[in-house]
Amino acid sequence: MGDTEGAGFLTLSDVEAAGAAHLSPEVWAYVQGGAGEERSVAANRDAFRRRTLRPRALVDVGTIDPTTTLLGERVRVPFFVAPMAYHGLIRPEAEDATARAAAAAGVLNVVSTLSTRSLEDIARAAPSCPRWFQLYLQPDFAVSRRLVERAAASGYRAIVLTVDVPVLATRDRQARGGVAIDEPAPIGNGTDVEAPLREAAADGDRFTLRAEASETWDVVDRVAAASRLPVVVKGVLSADDARRAIDHGARAVVVSNHGGRQLDGAPAALDVLAEVVAGIGSDAEVYVDGGVRRGSDIVLALALGARAVGLGRPVLWALAAGGEAGVARLLFLLRQELVSTMAIAGRRTLAEIDATALGPNRW
Ligand SMILES: Cc1cc2nc3c(=O)[nH]c(=O)nc-3n(C[C@H](O)[C@H](O)[C@H](O)COP(=O)(O)O)c2cc1C
Repeated sequence: MGDTEGAGFLTLSDVEAAGAAHLSPEVWAYVQGGAGEERSVAANRDAFRRRTLRPRALVDVGTIDPTTTLLGERVRVPFFVAPMAYHGLIRPEAEDATARAAAAAGVLNVVSTLSTRSLEDIARAAPSCPRWFQLYLQPDFAVSRRLVERAAASGYRAIVLTVDVPVLATRDRQARGGVAIDEPAPIGNGTDVEAPLREAAADGDRFTLRAEASETWDVVDRVAAASRLPVVVKGVLSADDARRAIDHGARAVVVSNHGGRQLDGAPAALDVLAEVVAGIGSDAEVYVDGGVRRGSDIVLALALGARAVGLGRPVLWALAAGGEAGVARLLFLLRQELVSTMAIAGRRTLAEIDATALGPNRW
């Protein structure tokens, strides 16, 4: 799965420290920071640590198959690169490096509206990479529509509409010395795209300039109508909101608290996953992100009903530590750990990972 030289870390446990060693304190605060005092960042990890896996013994695990499809697209593993802004703050190769590493690993790459490189450049950097485009709504819907059309023309296969940023949260760590939110790094998709973030930050308690602030569910219908692509709604934490997303045309949802970066005090995404899955049945695919760091975390999330998981910060840590080779190394290690966890747990395919793979909670 690609060149892994010089990645700067040997195991998944090392990747965070390897990333920290390569970034300035300001950029590190941007990457690591969460909303407020970061209670929901901590909750995401606690939710995995609290859970256990129950293995099944003496299953013939000579062959393990971790492949799946996401909205019909075949991928080699049930994890994807979550959309994250400004890879250029981490490395000059920015999203191009991430996309090339994802392509080599057969991993779905979800590209942020706020990417340093343009969505066209990222597609050209890794034409074979399965890719979806994450949309932050723009004040003028025509600008959102244009972004969606550009994504479709460049081979992005779904639109991931993020709905958990009606306004940007205050992030204590960032406020104390991170990259200023109102001075974002240059982004590749056009200055129109950047404006709502900057203006919302400058505007105190008037949120009218933040596009999402005054949007309601019918915008999901409008995004679906604006594109021929399936729409994924990212950032729901209840069965009710997941149901609304589907009723308004979403084909999948991402259960997510935005990596703890929005509502401080929001539950861990993993803790509400089962209730969302139960609430929507087989009407849509359900993914989860937040705190996924190990192969065993992926198995836990799938046992609780997710079809796939998103990886956020670890990708940026790996990018910092080793550029494209670093991300390739991360994706390789995670796949390897997923496969060995499946074997030891006695699950040969992802379909065999169900609630029987869960043990009692530790607390
Ligand atoms: C530095 C950073 C930037 C992010 N930018 C975006 C973004 O542009 N759009 C979006 O939908 N989510 C964004 N997210 C949230 C991620 O997509 C994802 O929900 C979260 O990082 C998952 O949690 P994890 O970092 O614990 O894996 C960002 C997260 C981080 C850490």
